[in-house]
Amino acid sequence: MRVVDTIAELRQARAQLQGLVGLVPTMGALHAGHMSLVNAAREDCDTVVVTIFVNPTQFAPNEDLDAYPRDLPADLAKLEAAGVDLVFTPTPETMYPSNYQTFVEVEKVSQGKEGAHRPGHFRGVATIVTKLFNLTQPDAAYFGQKDAQQVAVIKALVRDLNFPLDIVILPIVREADGLAMSSRNVYLNPNERRAATALNRSLQAAAAAYDAGERHPERLRQTALAVLNAEPLAHVDYVSVADAVTLEELTAPSENPILLSLTARVGLPRLLDNCLLPYSLNTREALTRILGGEV
Ligand code: PAF
Repeated sequence: MRVVDTIAELRQARAQLQGLVGLVPTMGALHAGHMSLVNAAREDCDTVVVTIFVNPTQFAPNEDLDAYPRDLPADLAKLEAAGVDLVFTPTPETMYPSNYQTFVEVEKVSQGKEGAHRPGHFRGVATIVTKLFNLTQPDAAYFGQKDAQQVAVIKALVRDLNFPLDIVILPIVREADGLAMSSRNVYLNPNERRAATALNRSLQAAAAAYDAGERHPERLRQTALAVLNAEPLAHVDYVSVADAVTLEELTAPSENPILLSLTARVGLPRLLDNCLLPYSLNTREALTRILGGEV
């Protein structure tokens, strides 16, 4: 496994890669969710490139950029064991040298939900992902369902800017008690860790209502919200019931696939979770096709 941190080295290493190249962009602090992306890329592609970069432009000034968990030696050991070929670990100065002034903005799908709670976040994501696509020129890039709106932003970016690559979406990987894996889970104390299971429990409650025939978006939303509100340590930011293709909020019953997504602060971290409804659509194939897909 080769590890490089300059753009010149990355370009030189990329030029030597043969066959299908799979890219897994990450911010490090790798867990089983990230490794599911790496393993999928390893199975599909001839060469796997992973990037580790805590991207400052996607953090607002009040967010946890400095405190974001970092453990490069542990990350590199996991990637080496998984058979990754090339790892890019640039510094902020490499990606954003002084006088840097170009940003990428994806309009409609960046608005609302995370876009409303984290102004500028998707501009930062779209910008860094564009740069990483340009630098690594992958045939396929792998992202996790957990950041569902990010997936839709990146799919729009790839369509609109004509990147010649496939976006592959892997389902959320969960702890045994259902908590979605996240690098930010390390901030949770034992009580908060228990309380954090309310996010998945609220998705499951809404999924059960959907299975029982409920289609009204507000009633699905209230079903999820009731479970979250019953957990005193969970402070809800939003529960969204949206069309899974356009990500537009639903105001009337729909038989199209639904993206149910929610965010709550539990202790320090803001935790995200989501699922597609019907629940049977939470597979690699369905997520890759539907979530933020063609309209
Ligand atoms: O999902 C993430 O870890 C980040 O948003 C990404 C896609 C690596 C861009 O910094």
